[in-house]
Amino acid sequence: AKVDKAGFDHYMAKEIAEQPGVVGAAVNSYLPAGGDLVELPGGNIDFTKIERMTMVACGTAFYACLTAKYWFEKLARIPVEVDVASEFRYREPPIPAQTAALFVSQSGETADTLAALRYCAGKADKILSVTNVAESSIARESDQTYPIFAGVEIGVASTKAFTCQLTVLLSLALKAARDRGTMSEQELTDAAAAMRSVPGLLNVALEQTDVIKAHARKLSEARDILFLGRGLMYPLAHEGALKLKEISYIHAEGYASGELKHGPIALIDKKVPVVILAPSDDLYDKSISNMQEVMARSGKVLLISDRKGLDHAGDVWGQIAMPECHPLVSPIIYSIPAQLLAYHTAVAKGTDVDQPRNLAKSVTVE
Ligand code: G6P
Repeated sequence: AKVDKAGFDHYMAKEIAEQPGVVGAAVNSYLPAGGDLVELPGGNIDFTKIERMTMVACGTAFYACLTAKYWFEKLARIPVEVDVASEFRYREPPIPAQTAALFVSQSGETADTLAALRYCAGKADKILSVTNVAESSIARESDQTYPIFAGVEIGVASTKAFTCQLTVLLSLALKAARDRGTMSEQELTDAAAAMRSVPGLLNVALEQTDVIKAHARKLSEARDILFLGRGLMYPLAHEGALKLKEISYIHAEGYASGELKHGPIALIDKKVPVVILAPSDDLYDKSISNMQEVMARSGKVLLISDRKGLDHAGDVWGQIAMPECHPLVSPIIYSIPAQLLAYHTAVAKGTDVDQPRNLAKSVTVE
């Protein structure tokens, strides 16, 4: 099918806007029955037979894996190792019995990820993949492959594929939790309801576009930008920084908020904007104390939180309001401001958003 920009200035803008629809398609495919039963379109997995997982990917897909580690460990009590494919493939990592190896790749053709998969073939109990292209090498060489339903993604900076990958990975984690009896009926029901609420919440998040655009204009003057997050917001801090540096060419780094004291705080002065991802969850108070450390050194804090979190934080340099959501789905919802900040900062700088310099959509050579 022919894909055009459908009236948007860039494919990236179109793909960001498509997320309520495509994430909705993924939710409906993995939770088809109306209840909280996860069905796996790529074939069933019995997670009681799996004792550990190793997840391998590159770029944005790697940050999807890092998010999935939090879900699988917390919800299903399965220990998860996560690695970038270029390191994994040459390290000769031991693969113990009852390991499922999971590869996440939008294109399904990334050379390092494919090589990592081939290393695991014959060693891992199961080779699983989460891809956007069913006919790809990674999909074909897996025992089971799980589609993400994102549709064709053209912008080099991945957006809708990321949130669809997260949706599928959370579905897999909930299936694992049910198999292993590590979540109560009530928790499973709440989690399924939370997933069904995601498309609507993504629409609410997208309504912040004008506010985000105004902040992006200010960010476009910065030389360095830090992104901080804890828990499920930690991988997203990395993803937000990656998106921003890829398309705006501003140096950006993602950091675990708790690591602030161990280095990045030395960089902070009044010229450095610090984007803090902090929904009002169990870790909110910790994030706010990190925020205060930044402000005490005149750093400019751009706080992304829900109404409650923003009100409680008081006066900051900038605020972006997200809808309140179940903590489990927050990485999917908070992806929207991370993506829109990068997009509008790049637009303000006048860079080539869909074809950033030196980058390729699919890296099929090493
Ligand atoms: C390239 C793309 C990224 C992508 C990464 C992994 O760097 O520019 O957007 O995240 O490759 O690609 P994959 O197709 O394996 O997800």
